[in-house]
Amino acid sequence: MKRPGKGIVLVALVLGTAAAMACGSSDDDENASSSGAAAGGSDAKKFFVEKVHASVSDSCRECHGTASRGAPVFLGPNAEASYTAIEGFPGLLAAPSFSPIVQKGVHSGPALTQTQSDLATQWLNLEVKARKLGADPGVPKNLRAAFKAFGDCMDFAKWTELKLHTIAAVAAEGNRGQCRSCHATGEASLWLSGGTDNPNDESQNAITFTKFREFPYIQRLVVGRVKDDGTFEDIEPARRLIDKGTEAQQLQANSHPRYSLPSDLVTALSSYVLETISNVKANRCTGISSPDAGLLDASQ
Ligand code: HEC
Ligand code: HEC
Repeated sequence: MKRPGKGIVLVALVLGTAAAMACGSSDDDENASSSGAAAGGSDAKKFFVEKVHASVSDSCRECHGTASRGAPVFLGPNAEASYTAIEGFPGLLAAPSFSPIVQKGVHSGPALTQTQSDLATQWLNLEVKARKLGADPGVPKNLRAAFKAFGDCMDFAKWTELKLHTIAAVAAEGNRGQCRSCHATGEASLWLSGGTDNPNDESQNAITFTKFREFPYIQRLVVGRVKDDGTFEDIEPARRLIDKGTEAQQLQANSHPRYSLPSDLVTALSSYVLETISNVKANRCTGISSPDAGLLDASQ
């Protein structure tokens, strides 16, 4: 059983901030990627260490090596250290058309010269290949962006094919009813309505799926993982739907009915979530299917 760790508390804090910022900020900076695939490419790193660093360091290190004038630090005392710092800085390792290193232009500091920009472009293209970043930025850099990317990549046809809509109709023990009898309109941040293949339930199944794509309901599928310093690291499968029903109940707590999801649904849910996460990472989210707009309208 999973202990509620420090990470969970921190995620809540991060989210609070994200929610507070939600309306004012634009989406265009959220998908910039960093880290991503393990270790990156040694060719790419070699190119950076041998060519790029020497070329840009003199122009940029004055501020970006020392945080002077409020500049973010992403350069170190030597090429190796700079490479590590850049790897850890969200958004810099991305396709040249997205990476602020190439795109920043004139700011408190100078723009890259043509030669510097060409070298940086060649290097980032190597990174894109080695880390499979795709043409688009891969790993989102904050939890809100990660949830959105996951939700946008959830495939409805696959969801129904795996019968995940039927979770809503799973019966709890002791005649306490099906999930949908208590969670049909999002109670406890869990939305489970519909639940059968009966045509009458189609629009409810569509709504349930649509809700799962969104915050806060999406947290029943994936949760954020944070690093020791509290910054966002990645998302991973949540196990709440699976674990809740068999957890030891605390005395005096609001006692939730016991249940166990059928094992085929547990397997299906786990593989759906893992597959969606890997599709997000590999940029395989185009052409995913969504519920018909008609189904959603019919139920409003
Ligand atoms: C005189 C100081 C100074 C110099 C020199 C300088 N910068 Fe900056 N840079 C800043 C400051 C201040 C910021 C933060 C404010 C901003 O984003 O404009 C910044 C921000 C950035 C960012 C943004 C990071 C992000 O999160 O988007 C990038 C990328 C960047 N600089 C690239 C460069 C490059 C490449 C060079 C060298 C060609 C360079 N800078 C030289 C002061 C400098
Ligand atoms: C009799 C009503 C009832 C039924 C039936 C029911 N729940 Fe709940 N559920 C609740 C209530 C009330 C809460 C909030 C209090 C709590 O967390 O125990 C809740 C909370 C939850 C939570 C979120 C809280 C957490 O600890 O993460 C999950 C997940 C959950 N239920 C799953 C299910 C599933 C799956 C089913 C169907 C198998 C189900 N519930 C059936 C009433 C119900």
